[in-house]
Formats: sequence, C-alpha cells, structure tokens
Amino acid sequence: MKIAICAEADAAEPRVAGTPETVKKMKALGADVAVEPGAGVKSGILDADYEAAGATVTRDAARDADVVLKVRRPNEMELTSYKKGAIVIAIMDPYGHQAALEAMAKAGVTAFAMELMPRITRAQSMDVLSSQANLAGYRAVIDGAAEYGRALPMMMTAAGTVPAAKVFVMGAGVAGLQAIATARRLGAIVTATDVRPAAKEQVESLGAKFIAVMDDEFKQAETAGGYAKEMSKEYQAKQAALVADHVKKQDIVVTTALIPGRPAPKLISAEMVASMKPGSVLVDLAVERGGNVEGAVPGEVAEVNGVKIVGHLNVAGRLAASASGLYAKNLTTFLEILVDKKTKELALNWDDDILKATALTRDGAVVHPNFAPKTAA
Ligand code: NAI
Repeated sequence: MKIAICAEADAAEPRVAGTPETVKKMKALGADVAVEPGAGVKSGILDADYEAAGATVTRDAARDADVVLKVRRPNEMELTSYKKGAIVIAIMDPYGHQAALEAMAKAGVTAFAMELMPRITRAQSMDVLSSQANLAGYRAVIDGAAEYGRALPMMMTAAGTVPAAKVFVMGAGVAGLQAIATARRLGAIVTATDVRPAAKEQVESLGAKFIAVMDDEFKQAETAGGYAKEMSKEYQAKQAALVADHVKKQDIVVTTALIPGRPAPKLISAEMVASMKPGSVLVDLAVERGGNVEGAVPGEVAEVNGVKIVGHLNVAGRLAASASGLYAKNLTTFLEILVDKKTKELALNWDDDILKATALTRDGAVVHPNFAPKTAA
C-alpha cells in the first residue's frame, strides 16, 4: 500500500495533509509513504523531517499511490497524475462544484470528502470541520483584537482605567464556542447567540451571556445531526431586531453562522454596521460561504465609516502548523478504517456509514446522494 502526501496546487493553501507524526502512524499501518517536495514548508515541516519519520520525498509521490492525501480537492491537472482507482481524500468543497466532481469521477478515482463526515461518536476524531473550526474560532478573536485599537481586558492603572471590551459572538458551534472561550481568556465581556437551543447552556458554561429570541421555532431549530436549520423569515426578522439593538453597543463582533449546504445567513446589515462606534471590528468567519456581514469582502479588511470588517479567507490556514497537525490526524484516523489490520492492505467496507457518508466518486461515477445525477423515478 502506497500513500502520497501531496503539495497543494493552490498557493493560498498553507496547510498540508500529513506530518512526520502521521507518517509514522501510516508506516505502522503497513504503508510506504511518499511526500512531494516542499509539501510541508508553509506548515513549518521540512522535507528532511518527513524523511526522518520514514517517508521518501519525491516529485512522483502521487504517480503510483494507492491513496492520495490532500488538503484541497485536486484540480484536473493533478488528477492526470494519479493512477486509476486511487483513493483521494481531501476537503472537497463539493457544494456548487458539480463539474469538479464529474472530473474526479472521469479520472476514475475514489474520492472521499472529509467535511461530509457524519457527526457520530465513532467519527469524532475524523471530524475536520470541528478540528479546523476550533482553530478558526480562536484565530478570529486574535485577528479581531489585532484590528481593534484598544485593549480587551479591563486594566486599572495609575494613569486611569481601560474598560473591558465587549465581544459578541454570533453562531455558537465549534468555532463560536472557541471564540467565546478565547475572548473570555483575553478578559472581554462576552455575549453570544445561536438558533440552536442546545447552544444556550454551552455558551453559559463558558461564562458568556446568551442572547436570542427563544420562541417555539427556536426550540425546534436543531436537526438530528446537530446542525442548524434555516430559520423562517419571521424568526429572522425578530432576531435581527434583537441583534440590532445589541450590536450597537459592541466593540468586536465575531460571526460564525453556517447552515450546511446553504449560503451563510445574513445576520448583520449595513445599517447595523453603521450603528457601531468607529474603531469597532467585525470578523466574518462565514465570508467564504457568502458572509454573515453585509459589506464583508473575501480576503480583505474592509473599512466602513471607521468600522473594520475582517474577511480573511482560510482562517484555520492562518494557523497552518496547528491546523495541519490536527487535519493530518483526522486523515490517519479515517485511513485506519480503510485498512485491514491483519493483511495491512486496503479493504473498503462499503456498508460502513462513515464511507457511505463521505464517498463522492467511485467506479467512474459521482455516487454521493447529494451530488449524484438524479435518475428518473
Ligand atoms: P456550523 O459550522 O454548521 O454552524 C455554526 C453555528 O452557526 C451553529 O452553531 C449554528 O447553529 C449557528 N447558526 C446557524 N444559523 C444561525 C443564525 N441565523 N443565527 C445564529 N446562529 C446560527 O456548526 P458546527 O460548528 O459545525 O456545529 C454544530 C453542532 O454540532 C454543535 O453543537 C457542535 O457541538 C456539534 N458537533 C457534534 C459533533 C459530534 O461528533 N457529535 C462534532 C462536532 C460538532
């Protein structure tokens, strides 16, 4: 069994799909591991570090690999260098990219999308959305604090008192909860909102105050998978009114609200931005999915009447070394279920819910129910 850790074709992606630690794990699984030169450089991992862990470093790493590990979905050029039947595992960003999925099917690879991992206990250690969102939530507060012209904690000094900053976190999932915890550690006064009722207790357990319209719709807003549902227009209007009054008084607002497979809900209007004090900062973690904040520009720090709107892309990648470490571990835990421990060969059990949920392409076709061509009933 040959496994390749490939360099990322996209220059904007500093993460890498394997680390010296996971090379050792894969070798223990019985694999030969090859790494493309320079694959780990932006995550602080040198070719020599991979070699010291037992990998070979070669430009041809992917050519005869049975398994290709990547951070992002391979492009058509990359696909031409993989062998037919190779298993490709990455964050595939499948929604709205049908042509790219067809290309993987046509190339004959078996593609698994790590972000489609089901939220079941057994798969928790393979959950890339969680491992990366946790870091993004932390980094969002650090980025917000860096753009903010004042201190976050209250400081009582001989020269006077610096008041504590008010931080409001919208969306209290994995990223939001880490943002709350980080802002609390930095000494801010933290409030948070979410549409899932389960979030209230989690927010409060972190020492933040929960703010939301808690009507009947709110009480049913969580799916069996633990995700948010898209809320009705009526609920959104009620929530917007509540939030509008609250946002005016905030120094830093971090938005993390997402609904799987849909554009991000718009939570902060231009009027709400205009109502904030000059020097306030909004950090929009949903900017890649359309944004929660009106006026957020992907990849930029926009400024509107003295209010900054931070729209960094790939925020987990801004902590590339940490993000790669966790992502690579998610991948190796997933790999373990693809390998027969006795024969040390690949043995895919297609009855396994984890494989069914994450497989995008197989035997030349797009097979995932969300993306496969609909057959006439
Ligand atoms: P996500 O990234 O899909 O969304 C982020 C947050 O935005 C969610 O909390 C969602 O409820 C919220 N949101 C959506 N629309 C909103 C709106 N209009 N206003 C305010 N907030 C809004 O969600 P994430 O972070 O992936 O987590 C969702 C849940 O799944 C969490 O409770 C998390 O703890 C749970 N989870 C469970 C795992 C398991 O294995 N059992 C693993 C990871 C997370």
